Amino acid sequence: MVDVSHASLNYGDLNDARSGRVPVGAVLGSDAAGVVIEAAADGTGPAVGTQVVALTSGAFAERVAIDVSALAEIPKGLAPAHAVALPVAGVAALRSLRAAGLGPDKSVLITGASGGVGRFAVQLAARAGAHVIASVGSAGRGDGLAEAGADEVLIGLEGLQRPVDVVIDSVGGPQLVAAWNLLAPGGSVQSVGWTSGEPAVFPPYATVGPAKSLTSFVIDGDAGADLAVLAELAAEGALTIEIGWQGPWDRFDEAAAALRGRRVSGKAVLEVARGELPGGAACAQD
Ligand SMILES: NC(=O)c1ccc[n+]([C@@H]2O[C@H](COP(=O)([O-])OP(=O)(O)OC[C@H]3O[C@@H](n4cnc5c(N)ncnc54)[C@H](OP(=O)(O)O)[C@@H]3O)[C@@H](O)[C@H]2O)c1
Repeated sequence: MVDVSHASLNYGDLNDARSGRVPVGAVLGSDAAGVVIEAAADGTGPAVGTQVVALTSGAFAERVAIDVSALAEIPKGLAPAHAVALPVAGVAALRSLRAAGLGPDKSVLITGASGGVGRFAVQLAARAGAHVIASVGSAGRGDGLAEAGADEVLIGLEGLQRPVDVVIDSVGGPQLVAAWNLLAPGGSVQSVGWTSGEPAVFPPYATVGPAKSLTSFVIDGDAGADLAVLAELAAEGALTIEIGWQGPWDRFDEAAAALRGRRVSGKAVLEVARGELPGGAACAQD
């Protein structure tokens, strides 16, 4: 059982809220960080008082019961307010790059590179030694991406002529079609998200030719092991966590409007009201 100090907001949370599929009264949210207040009954997992980060359902709650395999301890030197940005966005970036078979001699195009998934994907791809092309919606949205490891920062996909080996696509719609056309034979598009909300219309014969793949992507299975890798990288300073919006959770509407309005660079983090631990000790908060 974790006493939540921070949650982060994902584009998917906003989609869930508007989907009509979530029952009234259900607790949304996927990214939580906080302190263990009750250890797992079978003796596995972190002890009471350990700071952890998790990819879990119901993250927008003050207390969440979380499977041990879905969480990671927050290493020393990493603040919970930063660690909480990692679960959905970081794990999606890591696993989609892995699924695409990214290697040092490959070129990778990352669309929606200014966002949560995108900023992590740029850094992880650069770390893997790839040639990284980051695509954003407007000039200001590219700030910091070159420093994060992007070799090229483009607005949209105009001007990109050379074929790429991998595409991590968060935007969908016409940009997905354009990215498919840029994909080299043997290459892989990972369809991670669809923030454009627009249909993708492939011209006739666009999918006929040398083999290349368009693969759907979703985070499935427990994220604890990958979260631990990401948290270590962040604690070592090898992965920068950019927080574009941070505030108390009663300003949720402001955070949601900023995310939907494309005004958040990186991640939006919500601070959960300070709680009292059993026995009177205060929860750590950063
Ligand atoms: N499959 C999975 O398991 C999984 C996991 C994580 C996320 N996702 C999905 O991946 C997508 C990105 O998530 P995120 O957390 O990175 O979101 P985010 O932080 O909001 O970033 C999304 C980026 O997409 C761009 N964008 C937004 N609206 C757009 C539009 N109308 N047209 C073109 N570009 C637009 C924005 O970049 P600019 O402002 O620069 O254009 C924004 O920075 C979402 O669709 C999310 O649901 C899926």
